[in-house]
Amino acid sequence: MPSTQSRYHEVYARWKSDPEGFWREAGREIDWFKPADKVFDAQAGAYGRWFDGALCNTCYNAVDRHAETRGDQPAIIYDSPVTNSKRSISYAELKDEVSALAAVLHDMGVGRGDRVIIYMPMIPEAAFAMLACARIGAIHSVVFGGFAAKELATRIDDAKPKVILSASCGIEGSKVVAYKPLLDEAIQLAATKPDACLIYQRQQLECSRIEGRDLDWAQEVVNTRAAGRHADCVPVAATDPLYVLYTSGTTGKPKGVVRDNGGYMVALKWTMSNFYGVKPGEVFWAASDVGWVVGHSYIVYGPLLHGCTAILYEGKPVGTPDAGAYWRVISDHKVVTLFTAPTAFRAIKKEDPNADLLKKYDLSHFRALFLAGERADPDTVRWAENILNVPVIDHWWQTETGWPVAGNALGLGALPVKHGSPTVAMPGYALDVLDEGGKSVGPGIMGTIAIKLPLPPGCLPTLWQADERFKESYLTTYPGYYNTSDAGYIDEDGYVWVMGRTDDIINVAGHRLSTGGMEEVLASHPAVAECAVIGVKDALKGEVPCGFVVLKSGVQQTSAEVEKELVGLVRDKIGPVAAFRLAITVPRLPKTRSGKILRGTMKKIADGDEWNMPATIDDPAILEEISDVLRNRGVAH
Ligand code: COA
Ligand code: AMP
Repeated sequence: MPSTQSRYHEVYARWKSDPEGFWREAGREIDWFKPADKVFDAQAGAYGRWFDGALCNTCYNAVDRHAETRGDQPAIIYDSPVTNSKRSISYAELKDEVSALAAVLHDMGVGRGDRVIIYMPMIPEAAFAMLACARIGAIHSVVFGGFAAKELATRIDDAKPKVILSASCGIEGSKVVAYKPLLDEAIQLAATKPDACLIYQRQQLECSRIEGRDLDWAQEVVNTRAAGRHADCVPVAATDPLYVLYTSGTTGKPKGVVRDNGGYMVALKWTMSNFYGVKPGEVFWAASDVGWVVGHSYIVYGPLLHGCTAILYEGKPVGTPDAGAYWRVISDHKVVTLFTAPTAFRAIKKEDPNADLLKKYDLSHFRALFLAGERADPDTVRWAENILNVPVIDHWWQTETGWPVAGNALGLGALPVKHGSPTVAMPGYALDVLDEGGKSVGPGIMGTIAIKLPLPPGCLPTLWQADERFKESYLTTYPGYYNTSDAGYIDEDGYVWVMGRTDDIINVAGHRLSTGGMEEVLASHPAVAECAVIGVKDALKGEVPCGFVVLKSGVQQTSAEVEKELVGLVRDKIGPVAAFRLAITVPRLPKTRSGKILRGTMKKIADGDEWNMPATIDDPAILEEISDVLRNRGVAH
């Protein structure tokens, strides 16, 4: 399906013919302290390293250089309907805030290569914290606020942070979520203790501080300023980690995705104009959370590297106060592009199906909607197209890649849209679809989507202090490729269709979760003999987890009591974000004769999809029983 207007094919071909030349040129958009010896060193790392030998600083590129040329322009606009407040921070102010906080961190003993965990709500201080770490060469690891203390503890033990930055509370719709008790519990649970914590007090709920460990954020910044202290940008290697971001793996132990400085900057900067079609000075909004990769790449680093104004929104698509919230923000701040998850649009559509609230606002500056984080279902895409009358662009990526693998590059001139497909591979990515034996399948045939090595700049070079786990998880199944663990196909026009995961990761309201991790929690309950967790279709959240449990014989509690405790246990151990509300007791689990639980078939039954009796099943009657239980519980569609 060629397009005469789009430059995509020409640009993709240019990358393919000379990848190093392509990225060398893209690298000119970044200010380096020392340029790379080699744009790509094929001998370094697990599959090569980008911009080897270069020295740079990500905070300098995101903040300082713009403070010199566009100091008065808003860098960040904080818009918080949940606290009824707004704050505009210019590039000059951002430099001042970040360099003062960086000096505080320095005084707390944080230096280049040290880890800093950031467990914070969506307030500007979370972005200051990330940039302050980048400024002094420390490695930040932001942990999403919706995770429970145990998840935070796991990340503390893996990252071994010197200090933790947190706040007294987060505000979730109308609820105030106390962060400090979670932080205290996590530190207690963790084997590795941080030297100190810096706590930002919010007036909605102040917290107490532990003497000798916790410092008051505002006070420390005031003291540092009074002493006239500011920290400068430290030159770091382009290949040094900028951050570690934990994401769900196939077990309860999350994967620490490492992101470097140089390649990440180059890739993000390239996407801002070429993919999102945004110019410096324009207002870019990613309605996500700094705890997710979208928040890292497109609330903080991408827009700031490009000299845009980034919106930091503390609110929901609905209920803060209504389903017109997104239109209000777009109109108030002259947003040109919005990036969010399809689930947010499903939530808006459910509350305001005719988009009546949209009529109240002026969206004349708004140019495009970008969707990612989960499959963009065609109904939602069509609805958004109809009400907004601008391009609605699905794009596919992962925490691991840091930026879009496939999409419709608006900046290069959009290709025709096929609803349900995130369009085509971006320059940097050579995609293939492989069968179980690793053979490339033809167009239109389903398989595992794999990326031919090397991965482009910006993608993970490894997992935090786990090179072997990195290789085993991503590079071993298909030698010469990165295994995305996403299933799908590529059609005759080169359009990619991403249909679901090949592992046990599920996507709940755009949040990535491990069913394996939830199974570990269920199995820890004393009454549970066996369990299986699957993702079942949900009209709002895309998927929600559903746990099947077999109770031990002789258990005194009723199954309803155990189920209630299990729901509480997952919330307690993983966090509210897991949205685990459904535990179902069954007499047995369906298994193959070799003992493998037939999760795929259970999912089909729960989703109301067609299913066949697996030939290898041990006892066919059990699937009928499960089907009945699901119907009785109102789950089977
Ligand atoms: N801190 C503490 N708790 C949090 C949290 C945070 N940062 N984020 C979510 N939670 C809690 C919520 O309060 C909720 O708790 P509850 O069980 O007590 O109600 C639970 O985690 C589930 O949250 P969520 O998945 O957000 O569901 P919701 O019902 O509150 O809202 C949507 C549904 C669709 C409105 C919401 O999921 C949404 O806006 N999604 C957009 C997706 C997105 O931003 N994805 C990021 C990738 S682009
Ligand atoms: P995360 O690491 O949280 O960004 O989640 C990545 C996973 O979300 C991918 O591996 C996909 O399974 C899914 N995903 C993200 N974007 C899309 C999309 N546009 N279409 C289909 N699936 C997507």
